[in-house]
Amino acid sequence: MALRTEHDKGGNLHKYLDIGGKRFPLVIKEDIIRNIPNVKLREDDVIICGYPRSGTHWTFELTSMLLIGRDETVPVWKGKAMLSQVKERDLDLVSSPRVLNTHLFYEDLPRDVITLRNKIVYVLRDPRDVAVSFYHFYIANKAGMGYDGTWGDFLELFINGKVQWGSWCEHVKNFEEVIKTKRHDQQILVMNYEDTKQNPTESVKRLSDFLGLSRNDELCSRIAEKCGFKNMAVDKLNYTLLSDNRDIIYRKGVVGDWKNIFTVAQSEMFDRLLAHNMADSELVKRYITEPSSLRV
Ligand code: A3P
Repeated sequence: MALRTEHDKGGNLHKYLDIGGKRFPLVIKEDIIRNIPNVKLREDDVIICGYPRSGTHWTFELTSMLLIGRDETVPVWKGKAMLSQVKERDLDLVSSPRVLNTHLFYEDLPRDVITLRNKIVYVLRDPRDVAVSFYHFYIANKAGMGYDGTWGDFLELFINGKVQWGSWCEHVKNFEEVIKTKRHDQQILVMNYEDTKQNPTESVKRLSDFLGLSRNDELCSRIAEKCGFKNMAVDKLNYTLLSDNRDIIYRKGVVGDWKNIFTVAQSEMFDRLLAHNMADSELVKRYITEPSSLRV
């Protein structure tokens, strides 16, 4: 493991931990990361996967409530069941059914996932909103993240896959490949942030069916309501991540916040990134707008 520092375009220092050639936040412990492949899973473990700031807390809450069968706030922070954060012996103390979660790539998951075929929920969000949300997270948590650059300089790091947790494009491609090739017959449900926002009850029903629970419409609707952004931002106040005594998980919870911050040039740069890197991606199609340079 090595602490790496580099400068962004504006000269601001950006730091990350290099573990096995991958980029991690500074708070991560190497022994936990190295042990993840060996972590013993249980058959009924569900694993929430997704790039940071894609809506993984929301999905954790929806999944947990569905499993419990009640629309009651889950009195725990998602981080307490995070593979990269918690020692295996502490994960062992979490009672079943566990909702484990991670920002890791598929091949870095516990090896048991192949034999046990645990259900995986992959959370996907418009990468422009992810970038904006991630920037705010970095800045709200300057001490923890070790970065104090501008939005424009951060965006370049994001686009080049140089932020902590690495490249958004590579993350999505990685899971899409597993889905497409039906690798290990893995059971993966993709939940798009925007769909859950637009049609929360429908998304909760889909999730319920995927989990094999078939909860009734009324419960799905109550869970969707209970996990609405405004409710969660209040209900989870004791079970969130704080920096300077301020919650840094629940910020705005909207679709399209990127339009408030991207310049036209930044938007075009992003279009080009997606058009070039993700042209073959079915999952990302919905987020690609034709680069203006190609527009007639
Ligand atoms: P914003 O910063 O755009 O508001 P993650 O949980 O993967 O870290 O993602 C955090 C993002 O999801 C933040 O986005 C946060 O506000 C948003 N979020 C958290 N709970 C939500 C909810 N119940 N509904 C909608 N968005 C939510």
